[in-house]
Amino acid sequence: MLKHPVPPNAKWSYVFGSATLFCFLLQVVTGIGLALLYQPSSEEAYQSLQFITHQATMGKVLRGIHYFGASGMILMVGVHMIRVFITASYKYPREMSWISGVFLLLFTITMGFTGQLLRWDSNGVWSAVVAAEQLGRVPFIGTWLAQLLIGGDTIGAQSLSRFFAFHVFIFPGLIFLFVGFHLQQVLRNGISEPPKAGRMVNPKTYRQWYENLLKKEGVPFWPDAAWRDAIFGSAVILAIVALAVIFGPPELTQPPDPSLVHTVPEPDWYMLAIFALFALMPPEIESWVIFIGPILGITALIALPLLSNKGERSPKRRPWAVVAVVCVVVFMISLLTIGFQAPWSPKFETKPIAEVQAKPQDPVLAHGMSLFYQKGCQYCHQMHGEGGHTGPELSTIGRNWTEQQLQIQIVNGGSDMPAYGGMLTNEELHALVVYLKAQQ
Ligand code: HEC
Repeated sequence: MLKHPVPPNAKWSYVFGSATLFCFLLQVVTGIGLALLYQPSSEEAYQSLQFITHQATMGKVLRGIHYFGASGMILMVGVHMIRVFITASYKYPREMSWISGVFLLLFTITMGFTGQLLRWDSNGVWSAVVAAEQLGRVPFIGTWLAQLLIGGDTIGAQSLSRFFAFHVFIFPGLIFLFVGFHLQQVLRNGISEPPKAGRMVNPKTYRQWYENLLKKEGVPFWPDAAWRDAIFGSAVILAIVALAVIFGPPELTQPPDPSLVHTVPEPDWYMLAIFALFALMPPEIESWVIFIGPILGITALIALPLLSNKGERSPKRRPWAVVAVVCVVVFMISLLTIGFQAPWSPKFETKPIAEVQAKPQDPVLAHGMSLFYQKGCQYCHQMHGEGGHTGPELSTIGRNWTEQQLQIQIVNGGSDMPAYGGMLTNEELHALVVYLKAQQ
């Protein structure tokens, strides 16, 4: 296999598939290491991870490698997919490589998600709650899907066993199976030759043509083509290990506690885009998007090589393919950026407005200003550059709103704003209104 001939002038852009495989193997090795100490029970999981992170020899580095390895694998799988799409390597005769790759992408994302739940800290548990709630909204089969995911009606001890089984047996098993098939396809059909504008893929003649190409110009896979894979793969692994040694794994948040209503789940970055998408979507369409979105997306990806398996491969002649990739990448990065800012969740660590704005002389105004922070308005509202983004900025609210309107808004609240009617004394309400009216 090492000596099989491959087309010459394979490029550096062809290294991402093997880099993904290296990351996967790294995950298997470090995952086994973690499983030796991890206790998959809701009583012990959190403690055992704390033990791995803070006491076990090299435990911190091991968890770190597994954490950054997951990020690396998702990143590499994404870039590999983009490269295959841009060079249209999914065309004849490599349709099944692409289709098995679509499944591998889904399995990889599922691994990232289930792995994050195994931390069993408040973040992990709340992410599972959110996911189960979203699955539950799928029409018709939602409840059943959610029960399948968490192993019952509520998140509990049995959910962790289930996530553990998904993460350690079922999905790794599926990945091994599909990687085996994926690689068998590569060996059988050969690596796609770098595309050239104007050179069409014709299913009737392609295999003959490809064989002639290999006969005339083929070079042995090792070392002529594989040295790039070896160098890039090693660099990726080294980078992962370096990140693990320098930064270590993320600290666990507090153990899950249902009475802590303040916890807003902050999933790892590769799940953040999906969370952001759902947070931004109008609630009316959410159930349908959760249901139809993945079906449409996966169907489109699987259908791609079946619908378009011949013709031009060069990105120079397929400008729309390039535009599509740019759009998807920009979309994902935008969602990620918004996900990091999380404007939909109140911002609890905001600086009191009195530290930013000069304190007014008037005692009522000054009282209103401190109430604006104390009563939590600032968690949701920007005021002169400080505060959350859940509600509209209020720095100039006094220009258009009358005192009466302000009072009504505060007392009654709104769609995403609590009604403060019973929580404020008349004097406090007055002070807040006067303060807001003064914001011109
Ligand atoms: C949990 C988040 C949250 C908190 C806390 C909150 N608000 Fe709001 N507020 C909102 C949202 C969201 C809106 C926008 C629409 C709506 O729901 O009515 C809003 C709207 C407003 C408006 C109308 C602004 C406009 O342009 O529509 C005012 C005035 C206001 N809030 C004042 C306050 C004051 C004063 C407090 C504290 C006593 C407060 N809010 C606390 C979320 C919040």
